Amino acid sequence: MSIFRIKSVEQSMADTEEPEHRLKKELSAWDLTVFGIGVIIGTGIFVLTGQQAHVNAGPAIALSFVLAGIACGLAALCYAEFASTVPVAGSAYTFSYATLGEIVAWIIGWDLVLELALGAAVVARGWSGYLHTLFNLPDWLAGDAARPDIAAMFIVLALSAIAFLGTKLSGRFTGVLVVVKVAVVLFVIVAGLFFIKGSNYQPFVPPSVPSPAGSAGVDEPLVQVLFGMAPTHFGVFGIIAAASVVFFAYIGFDIVATAAEETRNPKRDIPRGILGSLVICTVLYMAVSVVITGMLKYSDARMNTSAPLAEAFKANGANWASSLISLGAVAGLTTVVLVLMLGQNRVLFAMSRDGLLPAKLAAVHPKFGTPYVVTVGTGVFVAILAGIVPLAELSKLVSIGTLFAFVLVSAGVIILRRTRPDLPRSFRVPAVPWVPIASILACLWLMLNLSVATWLRFIVWLAIGFVIYFTYGASHSRLKTGIGNLETPPEEHEAPLPQPPQ
Ligand code: ALA
Repeated sequence: MSIFRIKSVEQSMADTEEPEHRLKKELSAWDLTVFGIGVIIGTGIFVLTGQQAHVNAGPAIALSFVLAGIACGLAALCYAEFASTVPVAGSAYTFSYATLGEIVAWIIGWDLVLELALGAAVVARGWSGYLHTLFNLPDWLAGDAARPDIAAMFIVLALSAIAFLGTKLSGRFTGVLVVVKVAVVLFVIVAGLFFIKGSNYQPFVPPSVPSPAGSAGVDEPLVQVLFGMAPTHFGVFGIIAAASVVFFAYIGFDIVATAAEETRNPKRDIPRGILGSLVICTVLYMAVSVVITGMLKYSDARMNTSAPLAEAFKANGANWASSLISLGAVAGLTTVVLVLMLGQNRVLFAMSRDGLLPAKLAAVHPKFGTPYVVTVGTGVFVAILAGIVPLAELSKLVSIGTLFAFVLVSAGVIILRRTRPDLPRSFRVPAVPWVPIASILACLWLMLNLSVATWLRFIVWLAIGFVIYFTYGASHSRLKTGIGNLETPPEEHEAPLPQPPQ
């Protein structure tokens, strides 16, 4: 059962103090909120809002955002409690190590590569597309037709250089671009109000229609295939299907937790950063979706392009606004890529510090205080992904990977309350176990609404992860070798059986 050994919270905290693995503590609650907004607002709102209104939800896309926002809010409460209890760099990975055991922690760490590295590559591609439109760049350099996508590779490598030079620097850079991005989103909301036509909201929930013949199969939501439902679009199920796709727009608040070790007062500030950034983005998303579907009829083909926000303004004769929105998208997507990569670096750093990946990866730069080896490695890996791999279909893999992490973190909150009721928790989820259970069910429901193809890819990815764990991590784990552990001898960190609540 050693693969279920757990790493005690005390051991996780002690590791952060090792001189060779110590990250600089310089972030505040405000920095974290900006980081959160920096990574949350991205392709989701700039692209998916219009597309999902067109194919799945109609004007009720605003309700899809509400549903996805509720699922994220429940999970965010769980992340906030965990991060206030175990403020260590690896986020969901570290939390699972303290509760569910090493094999689950490894799988989550492996799964987070989908959210973070693959997510960064997908968004870098989107960045290149907007840059292509904004500056009318040649096709070989940027945009959908560029192979390799030189602009996408360039932005990934440039941002890696910033991440290498310092977390505070990354924070300042993000801060400036977040201001531009939020200003553009506010512009869309306020200027868009003047172009709303009430008739565009009719019908608010378009009646359900059967999917076009021949489109069934691996592209249908798993839930429809499992229950033998006839594939449909629109209607109530369309709203839910859209919710699981626009969930992508919320991805990122959890990444705030990966900066725990670099935060001056993590127990207080990480919950503020997570919940603050999520609330701000949710309000902006509701407003954008209501405005956009009021400006342009959901059934208009221009809603189903890669730049629906810009198209909605063009359709109302405000061509000038479209360049401004592209500028906001370029600025906005830049910070998404940067923060996703920072998060990836922190998770890999934590995993290699634990011996599940080669220990050399966890080296911290003597001058800049950043995990520079993983930063360079992630940069090269993401640049290759973004430059050459066809990514169009893979964004849903990012969502399923993230939802899976949310499920395990929510379960972890219930377990840690039982196994370690003694730990100080500066933030506590209300109504445990009901809120974490609701979070688990909401995330599972969104996962079931993703396509069969996405599930198959996800299962293959997890299988590869198991092979790597059993060929490397299981035997090199620091909990097994005992190197650098607290007093407890190796193998004595087995998961205690859950105790009944006190
Ligand atoms: N939430 C981020 C986006 O929408 C990942 O691009």
